[in-house]
Amino acid sequence: MSKPSTSLFSIRQVTVSDIGEVYRLLVANRPYVGLNSRYTYLLLARDFSKTCLVAEANHCIVGFCSGYIPPLRSDTFFCWEIVVGKDFRGNGLLKKMLLHQIKKLGVNYFEATINPSNEISKKNFTQLANQLNAHLTTSILFSEDDFENDGHEAEILYRIGPLKKACMGPHKPLNQR
Ligand SMILES: CC(C)(COP(=O)(O)OP(=O)(O)OC[C@H]1O[C@@H](n2cnc3c(N)ncnc32)[C@H](O)[C@@H]1OP(=O)(O)O)[C@@H](O)C(=O)NCCC(=O)NCCS
Repeated sequence: MSKPSTSLFSIRQVTVSDIGEVYRLLVANRPYVGLNSRYTYLLLARDFSKTCLVAEANHCIVGFCSGYIPPLRSDTFFCWEIVVGKDFRGNGLLKKMLLHQIKKLGVNYFEATINPSNEISKKNFTQLANQLNAHLTTSILFSEDDFENDGHEAEILYRIGPLKKACMGPHKPLNQR
């Protein structure tokens, strides 16, 4: 099957009314995205919608990215969860969602955590750092011990930056590119 054209996707802030669909997307596309309570996502949509987005194709939500600006590191966007529906993977949507968010927020650092066995995400975040021409550091943020060895893998912090704003150009909504 040929890949959908990039112009098929549009990106916008998440709203409370999106959360039913976002939740179904998360349920259908595990592993590597933790499934939290609907209440968590409803609160994200209510209070953190500037840093949480959805990607749509034909008015269906096919991607979701949650995150926040840490209060003590206001130059950083921390991406908490990112997921792309299985049928829409391999179209660069992860990078498009993250670049959209980084440019919109004007942050100087990007952070996300990856489980050690998630080879695809390691590759994707390394590619993102290269694309941004920025430095990438990795460190253990939370160990298996921090999760009391309940089967949750460690969370490895990928920190990218400083981000050279000159490399990123002006922000344009994805559907206008
Ligand atoms: C990680 C994830 C968000 C990537 O989304 P994406 O939009 O496919 O990412 P991109 O298109 O920017 O990158 C695609 C890469 O993923 C890989 N990939 C994984 N599954 C794929 C699939 N079904 N089809 C195509 N490519 C796939 C390819 O190796 C590709 O690399 P390439 O560009 O060098 O060919 C998506 O695979 C996903 O939702 N995974 C489950 C949740 C998860 O792991 N989230 C991240 C936690 S840190």
